Amino acid sequence: MEVKVKICMGTHCTMMGNLNLEENLERLQSEYPDQIEIEAVKCLKYCENNKAPVVELNGKIITNASAEIVMSEILEVVK
Ligand code: FES
Repeated sequence: MEVKVKICMGTHCTMMGNLNLEENLERLQSEYPDQIEIEAVKCLKYCENNKAPVVELNGKIITNASAEIVMSEILEVVK
């Protein structure tokens, strides 16, 4: 697995966009099923101080994780 994504599904991150991001990631994952693994996780404890939504990408925490940022970082690895 080249990219392991943990997407925070805690309340704050869900409200701040991770629900929408998860849909986008699932679509991307269906294009690269052998390279991308998505795991929905509970609060990663980074959501204070307006840092939500939060995603962990191969162990690296991304705060204020917009779809553009997360998708482009993933595509850097899988392309
Ligand atoms: S709800 Fe996502 S880090 Fe807390």
